[in-house]
Amino acid sequence: MLLFGGTGDLVTRKLLPALYRRYAAGQVSEESRIVGIARSALGVQDYAHQAETACREFLGTEFDEPHWRGFSRLLGYVKIDAGDAADYETLAAALQGREQIVRVFFYSTASTLFAMITQQLARAGVVTPLSRVVLEKPLGNDVASAHLINEQVGAIFTEQQIYRIDHYLGKEAVQNLMALRFGNALFEPLWRRGLIRHVQITVAEELGVERRGQFYDATGALRDMVQNHLLQLLCIMAMEPPTSSDPDAVRDEKLKVLRALRPLRDRDVLVKTVRGQYRAGSVHGKPVPGYLEEADISPESTTETFVALKAEIDTWRWAGVPFYLRTGKRLQDRITELVVTFDDVPHPIFDKAATTEAANLLVIRLQPDESITLTILAKNPGEGMRLKPVNLALDLGETFKTRSLDAYERLLMDTVKGNLTLFMRRDELDAAWRWIDPIIAGWREFDERPKSYMAGSWGPAASSALIGRDGFEWHDET
Ligand code: BG6
Repeated sequence: MLLFGGTGDLVTRKLLPALYRRYAAGQVSEESRIVGIARSALGVQDYAHQAETACREFLGTEFDEPHWRGFSRLLGYVKIDAGDAADYETLAAALQGREQIVRVFFYSTASTLFAMITQQLARAGVVTPLSRVVLEKPLGNDVASAHLINEQVGAIFTEQQIYRIDHYLGKEAVQNLMALRFGNALFEPLWRRGLIRHVQITVAEELGVERRGQFYDATGALRDMVQNHLLQLLCIMAMEPPTSSDPDAVRDEKLKVLRALRPLRDRDVLVKTVRGQYRAGSVHGKPVPGYLEEADISPESTTETFVALKAEIDTWRWAGVPFYLRTGKRLQDRITELVVTFDDVPHPIFDKAATTEAANLLVIRLQPDESITLTILAKNPGEGMRLKPVNLALDLGETFKTRSLDAYERLLMDTVKGNLTLFMRRDELDAAWRWIDPIIAGWREFDERPKSYMAGSWGPAASSALIGRDGFEWHDET
């Protein structure tokens, strides 16, 4: 496992702890090697020390000395400056004699370096038939740049060797959404227009841009979150039942959803999307600075830290059912959830409580806890026939009483096992960018600057207005 960007945020905060956990679970053999690769001139001991500090911090009580001693013996480090051919020779020497073993090259660097790293690896002769490459998102920043990267990486690795990662697909709860939809006959007949009124997908974060100001300011929420995580959630929510769980059967169905998304063009962009940027405020009572005051952010930045939009899927199943997507940093709570609002009964025969707007709701919560809640109307006890919403609630953590795997634990092991199901195929990525690009073009054309929202709120007022115009409200605002 060769981790480019080996001293960076993702490797130290997520990948090494994930690999440690798999090791502690007995899933990583003693013959394996985990090699950090970065520009700094570090010794293996220095790298192991950095890794230990990070793992102690991020694993807390899960960190265990004997397991760490074993795990640290698998660690290696190679200094590579991405463009320096001589550095790759060191890597080639380190890999010599291990040609018959699976190699996973994980690129956790800016995607502008992907092509160069790939070419250098090929030149150094370290790409074997048993090699795989993992590409972190966002891959490119529009259709054209993503195309170029895919071409250049694709010149060396076959599509079967390329793992485009979207860690949301590795989340236990996302897999559960597949189980709910395709493991039960109950929901499928209801999963369509005429029975579902609208769907909301929210990925709300309390965090700001943390130490990633430079990356974030050049990226923004639309590219960082909507182009990948939110569209992937939408696909799993909206796709037709695949014929099997084979990677391509699943990916074919997701692709059809992406291709059926109605393009947002010209003035549509202004009506159906909202851009926001946080100003200073407080999150859970703790004062936090505004986006423009964060480190590495230009004080004139017009990058969005919040997006809300209305998506429509032009298919028989979904015609006329709006999908509202929303994501932002420094919002009131950390919540990822999908909310399905079902239609009212066609002819009410009972009095409903005045407050009961949406009778049947299915809320699939992915974070911070994993739960599925179905709100139904029940009779309010006592005289008379008054209906009241009550919850049928399933807390998955409580039910299974076991720690679920972190997304990266599952995805890293999938790269080793060669299972592509939870990774994006090239055509999916392309379709996602094709839908995103006109939104960015529209914002540019109409000089649509982000609307300010206070940190710790639910985003700009325009976000409530977007959904309000159709007569609905965001779930947490009801
Ligand atoms: C990453 C984004 O892909 O996902 C980050 O680059 C974001 O900006 C993160 O914070 C959210 O992931 P999670 O798993 O914490 O919801």
